[in-house]
Amino acid sequence: MAAEIIYGKELAQSLRDQMKDEVSKLRDQGIVPGLTVILIGDDPASKSYVAGKQKASAYVGVDADLIELPESTTEAELLTKIDELNQTNQVHGILVQLPLPEHIDEQKVIEAISPEKDVDGFHPINIGRMMTGKDTFYPCTPYGIITMLKSKDISIEGKHAVIIGRSNIVGKPVGQLLLNENATVTYCHSRTANMEQYIAEADIVIVAVGKADFINGDHIKEGAIVIDVGVNRTEEGTLTGDVDFDSAKEKASYITPVPKGVGPMTITMLLHNTIKSAKRFHH
Ligand code: GUN
Repeated sequence: MAAEIIYGKELAQSLRDQMKDEVSKLRDQGIVPGLTVILIGDDPASKSYVAGKQKASAYVGVDADLIELPESTTEAELLTKIDELNQTNQVHGILVQLPLPEHIDEQKVIEAISPEKDVDGFHPINIGRMMTGKDTFYPCTPYGIITMLKSKDISIEGKHAVIIGRSNIVGKPVGQLLLNENATVTYCHSRTANMEQYIAEADIVIVAVGKADFINGDHIKEGAIVIDVGVNRTEEGTLTGDVDFDSAKEKASYITPVPKGVGPMTITMLLHNTIKSAKRFHH
């Protein structure tokens, strides 16, 4: 079977166009969705992600404010800033770009953000709401993946989903969202014994390990749905995922490419969460 390619880039564009219309109507009612992004230090990858968030915000009409702080910022200073933003009515979403410098406790920072403004969906309260199947802010990359599957009317119920990678940002929450959709979920990670046996029987494979060509067509079942969350740089400097796309696409029923796959969906879901937050604050 030659797979149908799910282009997150195209879906992201169409969702952003819909959001643009929605935000324009909200603005007519005096509601201006506001997102504040805090970037600490000058990690080039983080800077580039943040620039993408700003550009997409401007496109849909979300008011995005960037606060750039030096690497030397103390944890106390950051927590004070977050507290200020928690109390600012125009700010509906607060995002602290990760990773943070070593001297700042990431978990403390995540927990300082008001759960009602936590558009990343990383606060333990929002994770708990997600785990109990409640509507809340879902982490953006996992939410983007579910949205991609649904855009193709792929049925999730009863499928065996195998997640490779157990990060708090992608692996764990995507498994939870798939479970909420009634999938049977298996988590694989660096300590998993005989990982290949799980991958071989998966109906849906989500790969988020950060290693180029971690799986290929020989590993997957005929007709499997393959979602590649990897973002790796080749020696030539081009982007590549965790899946050997060319071999996997011959066997899969659906597959996401890198680039133009999951990546563009992450920022789109961030905008979705910010607009959702703005609407909530005005109801
Ligand atoms: N760093 C890499 N991905 C993310 C993300 O989704 N949110 C935040 N805040 N930082 C990140």
